[in-house]
Amino acid sequence: MAIISNCNESIIKDAALALKQGHLVAFPTETVYGLGADATNEKAVARIYSVKGRPTGHPLIVHISSINKLEDWARNIPNYAINLAREFWPGPMTLILPRKEIAKDFITGGQDNVGLRVPDHPMTLALLRNFEKMGGQGIAAPSANRFGAVSPTIANAVEKGLGQYFETNDLILDGGPCPVGIESTIIDCTKKEPKILRPGFVTNELLRSFIPQKLSWEESECLITFPGGMKNHYAPNAHVKLDVEPQPGEGFVALSSITTPKGVIRISSPNNFFEYARTLYFSLTEADRLSLSTIVFRTPPQNGIGVAIYDRLQKAKTREVN
Ligand code: TXA
Ligand code: MG
Repeated sequence: MAIISNCNESIIKDAALALKQGHLVAFPTETVYGLGADATNEKAVARIYSVKGRPTGHPLIVHISSINKLEDWARNIPNYAINLAREFWPGPMTLILPRKEIAKDFITGGQDNVGLRVPDHPMTLALLRNFEKMGGQGIAAPSANRFGAVSPTIANAVEKGLGQYFETNDLILDGGPCPVGIESTIIDCTKKEPKILRPGFVTNELLRSFIPQKLSWEESECLITFPGGMKNHYAPNAHVKLDVEPQPGEGFVALSSITTPKGVIRISSPNNFFEYARTLYFSLTEADRLSLSTIVFRTPPQNGIGVAIYDRLQKAKTREVN
């Protein structure tokens, strides 16, 4: 296993071949790094679960190169889903749709639906196109972290979290830091009305302007097995506290306009909430690197990207059962 930094065309081709041969390839996306395997290869997909330490039965997102591949994997696609795909793909949005034959139980966790996404990252789109040229159909990829841990937004974090579980022919492609920094918005498109299962960069407000249907986001109503929807996730070792006054020796994350109280360790000072999202997982990891017992976040207002940030922070805060 190696981190490959200067990913030129021939390296991307080799990586596609590695996937085709059943190895794992971690790759950058615009959201977070993914841990990829051939989505039709049961053995390769099984290795994703063992490397992540993820309980089996949790479904995986299949990454495809374009909207044209949508019908290879999904059936009974509602019009609103087509409209969303046209508008937001490639991009940080995953659609859950009724599955076709090709989406086996080992991808969907036995459910009759499949999660699909066209990622917006030139290196990964090139990887997908090369993989498809070799007869590949799609790349299954969860975030490239151990189950319950913080998602990686740089290649080194993938190596740090998963390196010891990789085999010789597995690869990590380094595409630099992920520009969005939090996982894709997941939308259940299996019903008449779309439902947001996980908020993300594609916000409720944005979505609402593209679909006439009622759009809901109610976690309690979510009936699908859904680890990203679990209450404890993305949890560092440090205690995460929200909107309390930070004490000397504790870590602190707030917009740059907010000053650091005396003796408090400033972890990051994003200039706006997009930067806040981009650096969120770095901040959580940094708290552990500095062995802080507590990190305090000043949370954003709950609209736009603030909804997704707040969702991740709530989960990072709930570490007791993890
Ligand atoms: O941004 C992202 O979505 C990243 C990058 C790598 O694409 N991927 C990602 O995958 O976050 P993962 O597995 O860490 O989180 C995906 C979530 C999981 O909670 C999974 O249960 C849910 O999506 N999911 C996947 N397929 C599903 C399905 N068919 N039905 C319901 N939930 C599904
Ligand atoms: Mg994940």
